[in-house]
Amino acid sequence: MFIDAIKKLIKAGSLRSLKQREKLIDLSSNDYLGLSQDLSFQQAIIARWEQWSKIVSKRVGSTGSRLLTGNHVFFEEIEEEISRFHGFPAATLFNCGYMANLALLSSLFTEKDTLIADLEVHASLHDGMKLSKARKFYFRHNDLDHLERRMKNNSRCFVVVESIYSMSGQRAPLTEIAKLCERYAANLIVDEAHAIGVIGPQGKGLIAQDNLQECVFACISAFGKALGVHGAVVLGQKLLKKMLLNFARPLIYTTALPLPLLAAIACSYERFPSMESERSRIFNLCTKFQFPSHIHPILISGNSQAKLLSHFLAHQGLDVRPILSPTVPKGEERLRITMHSFNESHHVQCCLENINKWNEL
Ligand SMILES: Cc1ncc(COP(=O)(O)O)c(C=O)c1O
Repeated sequence: MFIDAIKKLIKAGSLRSLKQREKLIDLSSNDYLGLSQDLSFQQAIIARWEQWSKIVSKRVGSTGSRLLTGNHVFFEEIEEEISRFHGFPAATLFNCGYMANLALLSSLFTEKDTLIADLEVHASLHDGMKLSKARKFYFRHNDLDHLERRMKNNSRCFVVVESIYSMSGQRAPLTEIAKLCERYAANLIVDEAHAIGVIGPQGKGLIAQDNLQECVFACISAFGKALGVHGAVVLGQKLLKKMLLNFARPLIYTTALPLPLLAAIACSYERFPSMESERSRIFNLCTKFQFPSHIHPILISGNSQAKLLSHFLAHQGLDVRPILSPTVPKGEERLRITMHSFNESHHVQCCLENINKWNEL
């Protein structure tokens, strides 16, 4: 019954499968600050959990939805700390970024609202839009004129963007978008998954760097990237939190995060703000190689070509994963190079030289 679907994928060179590549130089993961592999960070998490477990009578699983038995004082303390750190009145934790985005976009808006998203936003935001009752429109990537036309023709608009785009590393012109939102009385939703930890003062992201907290209706941060752990948060007004707790099905109808993970999130928030030297190392690599940000795409048209180049680089000891269509549009397949604080400039040099070699074959 499913054979035809699989055959179609094989023919298009886009059959997905799980892979493991170990002992290669990481130019691909989202562990930008190297936190997930930092031994002292891991030890801090274990110590924090040992301390907490005395209080929570050794409960590991949260045991239910946060609306039932799954809530705990630790959730509320962490939300309080995170909201204060980012300069928003309230924070709501989610089990991951995908669920946070799905929840935010699918649950709150009615037929009277309009969602207007950049064409290159993450799949989770597209999926949230699909499930939403709101009217939906897209604007061309980072195209302010196109966005303005969309806003002029619609009312009760919510504009959806990423601050650093996950597949291209490009920045959104956030200040200009915020000004447009102000002019048209629209609300701004910003996914900062790839900015938090890396960009802005203490790694607070692009919103903080541009001082836009008061212009933003909702900000999403995912903890599985630079923060080195797992989970996500939606930041905004207290009323937004109340709405999420009452209407967001991906929050209401799921088991809350396990408590040791909360300890890990708390440790990450304690650690990443002071990682200035790691952020500088990333910034210096980007400057040296003229990358748009810590994410740099190398376009290789065609799924099979992108996969072959990735294999070729793996043989040279480099882990650079291909991003295939349909994740990106056909013809825009790419290798997505990511910079980390633990990368050396010769890693990147070696990668670029091998890509040139490949192009000359
Ligand atoms: C921009 C963006 N938002 C959200 C997500 C989803 O986050 P998570 O991996 O925590 O589900 C991702 C993950 O790839 C992402 O790149």
